[in-house]
Amino acid sequence: MKKYKIAVIPGDGIGNEVTAEGVKVLDTFAALKGDIHFDYEYFPWGCEYYLKTGNMMDPNGLKILKDFDAILLGAVGYPSVPDHISLHGLLLKIRQGFNQSVNLRPIKLLPGAPCPLKDKRPEDIDFIVVRENVEGEYAGVGGVRFADRPEEIALQTAVFTRKNTEKIMEYAFQLARKRNKYKKVTNVTKSNALNYSMVFWDKIFTEQAENYRDIITETHHVDAVTMYFLQKPETYDVLVASNLFGDIITDLGAALQGGLGFAASGNLNLEKEYPSMFEPVHGSAPDLAGKQVANPIAMIWTVKMLLDHLLEDCDTERITEAITEILLEGKTLTPDLKGTAKTHEVGDAVCERLKRLL
Ligand code: NAI
Ligand code: MG
Repeated sequence: MKKYKIAVIPGDGIGNEVTAEGVKVLDTFAALKGDIHFDYEYFPWGCEYYLKTGNMMDPNGLKILKDFDAILLGAVGYPSVPDHISLHGLLLKIRQGFNQSVNLRPIKLLPGAPCPLKDKRPEDIDFIVVRENVEGEYAGVGGVRFADRPEEIALQTAVFTRKNTEKIMEYAFQLARKRNKYKKVTNVTKSNALNYSMVFWDKIFTEQAENYRDIITETHHVDAVTMYFLQKPETYDVLVASNLFGDIITDLGAALQGGLGFAASGNLNLEKEYPSMFEPVHGSAPDLAGKQVANPIAMIWTVKMLLDHLLEDCDTERITEAITEILLEGKTLTPDLKGTAKTHEVGDAVCERLKRLL
């Protein structure tokens, strides 16, 4: 029996509701497999915790989380707490503190999921974005001088290190090899305008490509990528992008795969020195919170990514198959998919399917 310790941070709003469904699917998966077991510890961190304590997480939070095998996070955000506080006080602390240098975002349109592009089918939308996750434009380097005066000035500096850039490029190439789709990596850049950072970025991409001669490479400017996502998404396989560019294009990607109810992500510590963190892309959706109407599919897909990270070759495709069956059947869907099912009913339905598929 293999045992794993999972730190669960449900967070705020619908984070709580979707996390319950994610854990349900994890437990069902483990019970069906028989040889794995998950132990959970829950942490009440997030905006409500902040309103009570003045901190988004325990000041010793990173020390507490360090020895877990993985972290599962719902969403954080609360109308009365500024978003930069909730982001910097928890998510970015964990991503940067645990050197989770890759943010992995699969963009895959499942059969039955709504796609806003009229001529594209599921086989046309199936790629993955490797987003740099600890430095770049979000390194937090900068400052403000002469605040509130006419000469006020703000600086925000992007930081690109050779070590980290090489690491995430390498990860992208290896992923293209493993996916075995087109064996292609698209470098997302803007080196025409950003003549230091992105020229450097391109240079590292070209250097790394030398070590992966079996992989096809291409370089697209980020503005063109937004256009090609709509015009020819079928040409993509693996894309590698900086923190800011990756953030932006993956939201467009989420729209292509049916919306925020489908967008899953993993923040990976590639060295496995620290736990990796898995979270749906969506926020705490205060408009839906407490009503059991949030779509838990993004979270259930996130759990699949967590399993892929912890276990090798473990039939996790059955989870996506279970979701697909539910989408095609169309009876157990939440209101964002024009259904009337409750969040927990979708989780139950996925578990029911899993029992038949595994
Ligand atoms: P949001 O993702 O919470 O909601 C955007 C829209 O999508 C809303 O109309 C919402 O109802 C809908 N939606 C989101 N998730 C859904 C789901 N699972 N099923 C059905 N519909 C869903 O983003 P918003 O409204 O910009 O932010 C709300 C709060 O969440 C803010 O405080 C923000 O800072 C925070 N946030 C947190 C994130 C995180 O924890 N990773 C990411 C994005 C936002
Ligand atoms: Mg984003």
